[in-house]
Amino acid sequence: MPNVTAPGKTVACKAGANLRRVLLDNDIALYNGNANLINCRGIGSCGTCAVLIDGEVSAPNWKDRGRRSLPPHNPERPLRLACQTRVLGDITVTKYDQFWGQGQTVQW
Ligand code: FES
Repeated sequence: MPNVTAPGKTVACKAGANLRRVLLDNDIALYNGNANLINCRGIGSCGTCAVLIDGEVSAPNWKDRGRRSLPPHNPERPLRLACQTRVLGDITVTKYDQFWGQGQTVQW
């Protein structure tokens, strides 16, 4: 079973698990501030679940690429939408600040 590490916490999940669900089910604060209430609940349209991932995950799908191609996201930046990402191996996740997680300061 892959391990998902966020600062201060490592949790195991099934291979292929949805990263958004893994984080939320383990009380890891995926959303910044009001994005915790105002988000698309995982359909890939809001872009607030953006994170940086180090490790093996599914390839970005069209929703992930599409939403991250729009401001305030920058398609050149290697973030991913957690709700559109499947965990395939051990990964480390980093969340940046600001509403969409598009900031430059590490949140966790
Ligand atoms: S939760 Fe809205 S894009 Fe992921």
